[in-house]
Amino acid sequence: MHSVSIQPTLDSWRDATRELLLQRMPPHEVLFDDGTQSGSLFQAASEPNALRFAGPALGHYDNDDVPDLTISKSFLALAQTVACHRDPDRWSLLYHAAYRITIAKERHFLSLHSDDLLIRLQRLDKAVRRDRHKMKAFVRFRKVGENEQREQFVAWFEPEHAIVELTAPFFAKRFASFDWSILTPDRCAHWDGETLSFSPGIDASKAPQEDELEDYWRTYYGSIFNPARLKVKAMQAEMPKKYWKNLPEAPLIQELISEASHRSREMVEKGPNRERSHVSAKVPQGARHEDTDAEHFTPLTALRDTTLTHAAVREAAARCRACPLYESATQTVFGVGPEDADIMIVGEQPGDHEDLAGQSFVGPAGKLLDESLQEAGLERNEIYLTNTVKHFKWKPGPKGRRLHDRASNEEIATCKPWLLAEIMRVQPHTLILLGNTPARALVDPDLKILSARGLLQQVPPELAKRVIATVHPSYLLRLPKAEQAASIQSFVNDLRLAHSA
Ligand code: URA
Ligand code: SF4
Repeated sequence: MHSVSIQPTLDSWRDATRELLLQRMPPHEVLFDDGTQSGSLFQAASEPNALRFAGPALGHYDNDDVPDLTISKSFLALAQTVACHRDPDRWSLLYHAAYRITIAKERHFLSLHSDDLLIRLQRLDKAVRRDRHKMKAFVRFRKVGENEQREQFVAWFEPEHAIVELTAPFFAKRFASFDWSILTPDRCAHWDGETLSFSPGIDASKAPQEDELEDYWRTYYGSIFNPARLKVKAMQAEMPKKYWKNLPEAPLIQELISEASHRSREMVEKGPNRERSHVSAKVPQGARHEDTDAEHFTPLTALRDTTLTHAAVREAAARCRACPLYESATQTVFGVGPEDADIMIVGEQPGDHEDLAGQSFVGPAGKLLDESLQEAGLERNEIYLTNTVKHFKWKPGPKGRRLHDRASNEEIATCKPWLLAEIMRVQPHTLILLGNTPARALVDPDLKILSARGLLQQVPPELAKRVIATVHPSYLLRLPKAEQAASIQSFVNDLRLAHSA
């Protein structure tokens, strides 16, 4: 077993990994020690990058022996987020993946969607992305001073993962015009209008006091907050409790919930230290990378700008954050199929498989749909397949399973413009709507599919020449076996209505 000491940074892992791969070191023989595990601090501090290799130095390989260590940008992007996770296994997992891509020549590793290693890496990636999003959404600056030229602000935040360096450039871009520091327990980021710098983390007791900025936030929240429509559950889901305590508006929210308007509000953070006394370090490499999350699109982008091509809409949808569903899903699942298809099929939302694969209808419901299309004499390859809602909504089930969860009317309404944008561009002759969701979103909010199924008579003419509503294949899969065959037959018959397209 080779124990390899690295710094807890992607660059350090990369250097070590290069050396290990040149020796074709099998993953199970490598142990990464980044000095953050208990008991190893002394070792890491005294011999950073202490790589000891038995194999020949690079110069001793002849050309045929030197493996091709090229790694795709997409993998490096994944590695960059995974590296921020606190999972102690992350370096080994990344090494294993790098080994498979280069030495085992699995160049298509990132498309092996049911691969356990990839799934595990994607989970870490997801957790870090989510944390970064929370940081961007929930950091609140408080004014702590000003001089002739500039104002100074400070924010306190407790991220779950080591995301400060990766996320600070976002704040530098967004809040370029004042000086700020974001203080966290493991790393602090500072901006002086020109340079981003970092210093070690600080104690929670040094977080700044509340000040006038808080009043601003409180007023803002008070004005958009309608207690009559207060949905505590939804709000808590979107803004987890543990983030509340760092938000100036948190006391107000509490007040609204409890209706104890006279209750004195709690101090969010206490502490006398209002000064920026943190030593600036150099900006580490990698911290200045392009912040790809900086630009968000809303579904209305696609509707407003009719000059956007289908590909551009797909691109924009990939970055949509218009509702909370993107947070716990892997990716936007956009439609697939020819952009000039005569038939478009619209499902409800991607499932677990679709979420991981990034493609509509590749899971069990998709398989049944395929078989039924074939029986109906329709070519799947000629059909454009999409969903009403583009992100997978799920709730935790037994054994870590992700169970389908029905999208709310609000989520459906928010996402609908993406679907309309697809319809506008593909302009199908026939639309086939699977289950209640697309039929309610596009035709009639009260439609009941089991009684209305078949060719719909009353449809908005701009949708398509003909619109067929039928049951959802997932519904068929859930039916008792005895009823299944006949119901699938009726489903196939509904699909046949598309023939005259
Ligand atoms: N169910 C759907 O509605 N859509 C999919 O893409 C998969 C399952
Ligand atoms: Fe955007 Fe739709 Fe995803 Fe919500 S579900 S984030 S609206 S693409």
